[in-house]
Amino acid sequence: MQSVAIIGGTGPEGRGLALRWARAGLKVIIGSRDANRARTAAEELCRRLGPAATVEGMDNAGAVSASSTVVLAVPFEGQAAILKQLKPSFQSGAVLVCATVPLASSVGDRGSRVLGVWQGSAAQQAAELVPDGVSVVAAFENISADVLDGESDVECDVIVCADDQRARQVAFELARHIPGVRPVDGGKLENARIVEQITALLISINIRHKVHGAGFRITGIAAN
Ligand SMILES: NC(=O)c1ccc[n+]([C@@H]2O[C@H](COP(=O)([O-])OP(=O)(O)OC[C@H]3O[C@@H](n4cnc5c(N)ncnc54)[C@H](OP(=O)(O)O)[C@@H]3O)[C@@H](O)[C@H]2O)c1
Repeated sequence: MQSVAIIGGTGPEGRGLALRWARAGLKVIIGSRDANRARTAAEELCRRLGPAATVEGMDNAGAVSASSTVVLAVPFEGQAAILKQLKPSFQSGAVLVCATVPLASSVGDRGSRVLGVWQGSAAQQAAELVPDGVSVVAAFENISADVLDGESDVECDVIVCADDQRARQVAFELARHIPGVRPVDGGKLENARIVEQITALLISINIRHKVHGAGFRITGIAAN
């Protein structure tokens, strides 16, 4: 993989992932509904990381068309509309990595609750909306933006759920570019509904323990 594009890459989660992947040497394309906002975010990251980093900013459509690996990091309430809008821009055979969590906070309720999604999960909704031939994998829903936005290793597992082996491999590769992260095969895409719910639990844990970066590890399996 040479590059990764991030829809919603101007938000804390997208920027945190961009920081880690650019630091690991990937070319990162930050997408936004506003190309200027994307360029500003990209410039900030380049300043922070130095001349070795390659980060560009584009509008979401430009970002999606520029890479065969696309990460979706937008609030759930905007996911369906943005995917419908971007449908013509995907490269044939692209992989969409869905990090969206249908938190109830996106409709004014608590972040410690998730919304019921008709398709089962945000990732399954995304899979219904991408063009034929684009594979969806669910990953990174449980990594806190606060933890990504730092220098230390990210001590947590990333559960990867997909129906397509190639998409699973893409998410594994992205996860391995983040020091400390271990990708764990979480089975089929339908299991994303469980992984997305864990984020709501982690938000509750953050509140109870007055921290911002709770994560989790699966025990009892061999290292990947
Ligand atoms: N924050 C975390 O710690 C964390 C951890 C795990 C998973 N997640 C999940 O990752 C996703 C992104 O999280 P975030 O905290 O970065 O969210 P965010 O700041 O609310 O949104 C991310 C970006 O999405 C774009 N956006 C906002 N509303 C949109 C809409 N209606 N349609 C299309 N694009 C829209 C915005 O970029 P432009 O205005 O530049 O287009 C924004 O900067 C969410 O689904 C969240 O649940 C977050």
